[in-house]
Amino acid sequence: PLVTTSEMFKKAYEGQYAVGAFNVNNMEIIQGIVDAAKEENAPLILQVSAGARKYAKHIYLVKLVEAALEDSGLPIALHLDHGEDFEICKSCIDGGFTSVMIDGSKLPFEENIAVTKKVVEYAHERGIVVEAELGRLAGVEDAVNVNAKDATYTDPDQAVEFVERTGVDSLAIAIGTSHGAYKFKGECKLDFARLETISNKLPGFPVVLHGASTVLPEFVEKCNQYGGKIHGAQGVPEDMLLKAGKMGVCKINIDTDLRLAMTASIREHFAKNPADFDPRQYLKPAREAIKNMVKHKIRNVLNCSNRI
Ligand code: G3H
Ligand code: 13P
Ligand code: ZN
Ligand code: NA
Repeated sequence: PLVTTSEMFKKAYEGQYAVGAFNVNNMEIIQGIVDAAKEENAPLILQVSAGARKYAKHIYLVKLVEAALEDSGLPIALHLDHGEDFEICKSCIDGGFTSVMIDGSKLPFEENIAVTKKVVEYAHERGIVVEAELGRLAGVEDAVNVNAKDATYTDPDQAVEFVERTGVDSLAIAIGTSHGAYKFKGECKLDFARLETISNKLPGFPVVLHGASTVLPEFVEKCNQYGGKIHGAQGVPEDMLLKAGKMGVCKINIDTDLRLAMTASIREHFAKNPADFDPRQYLKPAREAIKNMVKHKIRNVLNCSNRI
């Protein structure tokens, strides 16, 4: 069966590595990710956003993940990414997910606590685990001075209070990462001192890093070489993510790098094979590109090969 992330995070915390949480939207993406994890003997979290549910329908994604589970024999957790209210979390818990994120990070502190508590109560009664978020990821490029950082980045004391009062199983924090392909204008800066303080105040507790794609230049360049227009894209360097994995971060979210790998492959295929029109001709190499990207992540960013 699908597993929760409890055991995965315990081992990741002790082993000082991270489990990859990869966003899935269709069959080829799921197959590419799962094949990579299978070959690497790695623990795996497949996550589904509200947008993914809208695109593919909840039932299709659940059935595809169940097929991947049966086919691979891997321990896989199925997680809701950025659930915005109790209702979507409930719907995913009732609909077969083993983990949900309630993202109340845009709410005032007390409201974030209240909605997270409500989700935790519902989830725990059913053996499901919950991730919450404290601090704001978006717009962090602007947070150059200390005051701005304090307003948006996760406050360590609030994090402790939040975890204690909600009973949440893991917490996503803001230390300078952001979603998408344009994370930094200049050089990447993450607030490791803040991460260290948070981890020290919450010993043994799994921290989650969102917006953790590396935006590998090779893939951006390939997109652009074959007609793409992706300019100024920049992600989080791999050594920083490895370092985070040793500092209490147990889950690292990756979506953008999968999108870039898939798009680069399809663009290249069309440029080199303009006569092709059978979707299998370009989706097969695209699926292979996803697989190679995930293997690279497991080895060089997550350090979670042979951890099951
Ligand atoms: O954090 C967002 C993930 O990358 C999912 O993106 O909402 O476009 O599916 P999405
Ligand atoms: P990236 O956009 O860096 O891949 O982050 C994905 C994410 O955090 C999904 O929740
Ligand atoms: Zn995210
Ligand atoms: Na870790």
